Amino acid sequence: MHYADSVAGPIKVASAQGQYIFDSDGNRYLDCVNNVCHVGHCHPRVVQAAAQQLAMINTNSRYMHDNVVRLAQRLADSMPGPLEVCIFVNSGSEANDLALRLARNYGQRDVYCVDQAYHGHTAATLAISPYSKYGPVDLPSDTVKLMLPDHYRLGVSAERMTELCVAEFEWLLSSRETPPAAFIVESLICCGGQVVLPPGYLRQMHALVRQHGGLAIADEVQVGFGRVGDHMWGFEAHDATPDIVTLGKPFGNGFPLSAVVTTRAVADASRDVEYFNTFGGNPVACAVGLEVMQVIADEGLRENARDTGRYTRTLVANLAAKHASIGDVRGMGLLFGCEFVIDRSTREPNARLADHCMQWMRAERQVLVSTDGPHRNVIKMKPPLCFTPENGETLAAAIDDALTAYASGIDYSRR
Ligand SMILES: Cc1ncc(COP(=O)(O)O)c(C=O)c1O
Repeated sequence: MHYADSVAGPIKVASAQGQYIFDSDGNRYLDCVNNVCHVGHCHPRVVQAAAQQLAMINTNSRYMHDNVVRLAQRLADSMPGPLEVCIFVNSGSEANDLALRLARNYGQRDVYCVDQAYHGHTAATLAISPYSKYGPVDLPSDTVKLMLPDHYRLGVSAERMTELCVAEFEWLLSSRETPPAAFIVESLICCGGQVVLPPGYLRQMHALVRQHGGLAIADEVQVGFGRVGDHMWGFEAHDATPDIVTLGKPFGNGFPLSAVVTTRAVADASRDVEYFNTFGGNPVACAVGLEVMQVIADEGLRENARDTGRYTRTLVANLAAKHASIGDVRGMGLLFGCEFVIDRSTREPNARLADHCMQWMRAERQVLVSTDGPHRNVIKMKPPLCFTPENGETLAAAIDDALTAYASGIDYSRR
């Protein structure tokens, strides 16, 4: 049986609450993939903060407002010492674009990125985004692509993966005539397939780029604000401190708000260049950002990401005993992926099964996940942080039933 024709297009959304989305026909979906509505869709405190500020004043960033200062202070307080200068923008792409400008103003030109990375849709950020879904991109000569540290796919240990990546980076840095401006990587690689950085990788890569006069940029656009559970910021899990951090998606809980956080030294190198951004850091955006950060603290959402994330990942990982098509389950906190293979011994990717799961779970269980990774054979899960253990059970049961359906010949994939 092939149900491809019955699979609907994008959901026409009407409203949402917490971890649930309602479509225009009144159907309720468990949202397991929305890392924008971080503290829960339409969180009442965030809605109120935005409405109150909108009724008071909202204007462009040519004016000073307490909210900007308060939010910058709050962000700086949440990060390691040297990261103390904040610049507010409206999207992750703008944040990474500005990070590149800061890094290049600091001195050099070449930017090292990781294969399958996605850092944004502007010309400058696409130029460091070898992610095949939005490509093909001909990377310019001042972008250098490094291997994706995906030890599962390469069939090596995590420790060996680190050695290989560090050796490659060392070799490229010493063989190129031009020095690096920066090395940029997500603290957990999302578009590349929810790849957890192997132990020691981030610290050693940061050390290498600095030895050659470049800066370390951590893209926390997807992973920041407590999603990884044990820490507020993903790079903290690796005992590494970048020179520039970029933030986005979850910051405004759906309201456009992003930021670049950096050191005084890096900011000072760009002092002569005026940066103007009409909407960046407007009073409403900053009111929202402040409330989002307060809600994360008040509701223990980082701790919930840690505990409910661990519980849910275990439930999904346990399905591997029953379904040989599950090759790997990996992630941190409430950010994880389940990789499907045709054969566990060869790890041949099964993109068709990943697509089937996504479609079947939506149609038959009203559970929303998405697919990703270079081979599109990983289903990714990154729900709002108010996700409950019961939601985790619903998610795992839906994956289980989708795989059982596929094994019995039912195929919802559009491939
Ligand atoms: C890791 C990462 N960086 C940057 C961006 C760009 O963010 P935006 O779409 O807000 O411009 C994205 C968007 O998906 C992303 O996943």
